[in-house]
Amino acid sequence: MSEKISVLISEQDVDARIKEIAELISHEYEGKTITLICILKGSVFFTCELAKRVTIPVRLDFMSVSSYGSGTESSGRVRIVKDLDDSVEGKDIIVVEDIIDSGRTLNNLLSLLSARKPNSIKLCTLLDKPDRRVVPVNVDYTGFEIPDKFVVGYGLDYDQKYRNLPYIGVVEL
Ligand code: IMP
Ligand code: MG
Repeated sequence: MSEKISVLISEQDVDARIKEIAELISHEYEGKTITLICILKGSVFFTCELAKRVTIPVRLDFMSVSSYGSGTESSGRVRIVKDLDDSVEGKDIIVVEDIIDSGRTLNNLLSLLSARKPNSIKLCTLLDKPDRRVVPVNVDYTGFEIPDKFVVGYGLDYDQKYRNLPYIGVVEL
């Protein structure tokens, strides 16, 4: 079975916005080294494209979490599937996410990482669905705010498919 996908945000628009965020981060963290924390698997494409355009020194680390919960609603209690390789203590870290929906996962993840005493912690997300927010999350860098639609591409999947689309699309079910 294959679904019809319509373009919501084009490849050019995504690229242009990532470049802007990278410039902002490079400016705000001038003279520092940042650690980008890629939340697998969804933010892998975004993290790479962002890292390529940041002009200050960048470290990369990867984490994979799954939220407990049934069906499509995440409970937000995060289980670490793959932890970071390095300690974040004393470091300037930026958590890079693909999308913030209810906010439950991120809210939990941010408190978990804050407890490890980084020097600073910020959150960068490619997409945000503010209408869906259940738990407040303070987002520092947002690519695009989007309506409450299920999107794929640029790392985001539908049943593990479509992560490799170079644009953000909406699944027409
Ligand atoms: P929440 O903010 O805890 O509800 O969960 C956010 C996670 O749900 C994201 O990291 C995605 O993995 C997934 N998710 C939410 N909305 C979408 C979507 O539109 N497409 C694909 N995955 C989504
Ligand atoms: Mg995710």
